[in-house]
Amino acid sequence: MKVLFIYYSYEGTTDKIAREMGKGLDSKLIRLVVQDEKVHKNKLFKYAWGGMKVLTKTTPKIPTLETNLHAYDLIVIGTPVWAGTYTPAIRTLFKDYDFSDLNVAYFYTDLGGEGHTEINFKEALKDANIKGSLHLKNASKNMKESLEKATDWIEKLTF
Ligand SMILES: Cc1cc2nc3c(=O)[nH]c(=O)nc-3n(C[C@H](O)[C@H](O)[C@H](O)COP(=O)(O)O)c2cc1C
Repeated sequence: MKVLFIYYSYEGTTDKIAREMGKGLDSKLIRLVVQDEKVHKNKLFKYAWGGMKVLTKTTPKIPTLETNLHAYDLIVIGTPVWAGTYTPAIRTLFKDYDFSDLNVAYFYTDLGGEGHTEINFKEALKDANIKGSLHLKNASKNMKESLEKATDWIEKLTF
């Protein structure tokens, strides 16, 4: 089974989990890097900066995927939760690419406040065949458990 992981990660948690899931599979991983994006250290500033981008429905430029989405048996989309939903880079992904009739699963990492993430994913992917979803609550605080949950989840999906 060919699996494509497309994900955004600001501080590395989602990246670590996606990489772990990709191991041992016939997979390709694409991390959506937003050009010139700074990693802000100040927590308050960071949340205000990112939260504003979510609230204004920003769609930052993401790299072209350079792959045929139809060539995969499963596409896994990953994101951290920002301001209670998926990140702006994932908003761009949904704007620029059509997932209709494709087999898609998604996962999201957070710090305990997932907000509308699940509902918003379902809405964005309403024309896709949703194969599964995984919420990794407090992912960075429970990394070992998160990695276990994630590998378990992907194993079941790709069995
Ligand atoms: C701008 C911003 C907004 C965030 N908003 C939320 C939120 O609404 N709820 C939540 O539980 N965590 C929130 N977080 C925490 C991240 O979702 C969490 O730390 C995630 O695992 C980070 O993934 P990453 O390391 O791949 O970027 C936010 C983090 C940032 C930077």
